[in-house]
Amino acid sequence: MRALNYLFKKNRNWAESIKADDPEFFRKLSQQQSPSYLWIGCSDSRVPANQIVGLLPGELFVHRNVANVVVHTDLNCLSTVQFAIDVLKVKHIIVCGHYGCTGVRAALRGERLGLIDNWLRHVQDVRLKHEAQLIAISNEEQRWDRLCELNVIEQVMNVCQTTVVQDSWERGQEITVHGWIYKVQDGLLRDLNICITKPKEISIVYQSALYPG
Ligand code: CO
Repeated sequence: MRALNYLFKKNRNWAESIKADDPEFFRKLSQQQSPSYLWIGCSDSRVPANQIVGLLPGELFVHRNVANVVVHTDLNCLSTVQFAIDVLKVKHIIVCGHYGCTGVRAALRGERLGLIDNWLRHVQDVRLKHEAQLIAISNEEQRWDRLCELNVIEQVMNVCQTTVVQDSWERGQEITVHGWIYKVQDGLLRDLNICITKPKEISIVYQSALYPG
């Protein structure tokens, strides 16, 4: 017996509503996926990738983890990036963080939550790297917001430094890496003015994203 019957009911309703708009939708989708975008975002339930950008199944390839971290030894994330670039031929990689990220807050405060502390250690590294900039912000809420932004900036850098992305640029494949942040309070995305299309842009774009204005 299914304990979560209501979710199956919601699923049937959802599939029916899609078919009401386009009776062939699922049949066409079953034949291939050709997304143009890879989304790397936080697992937070308030930040659902497809809905935020209004894209349908088949249009967005997604990797999510707590605090949208890209770690150079994380085979899960790296395999997703490699598959997206080499097999799906996506043109854009979007790292999307969000304000109010509780993973980022735990890293900011040095909270102990369990096993996850080891994962969030990567965000603590971001905090330490930009300690001077963060200390200068006296309001804790604003400091939290800024660490959410800095974390996106650093994860964009990590994406750009992966062998997979470096090799694709070397081959002449067009890949653009973006850094965005989402605000749960208003449902809107903000561009962090990071948009990298080739290796020689990395350094200058990084500096201008770190010190805007
Ligand atoms: Co989060």
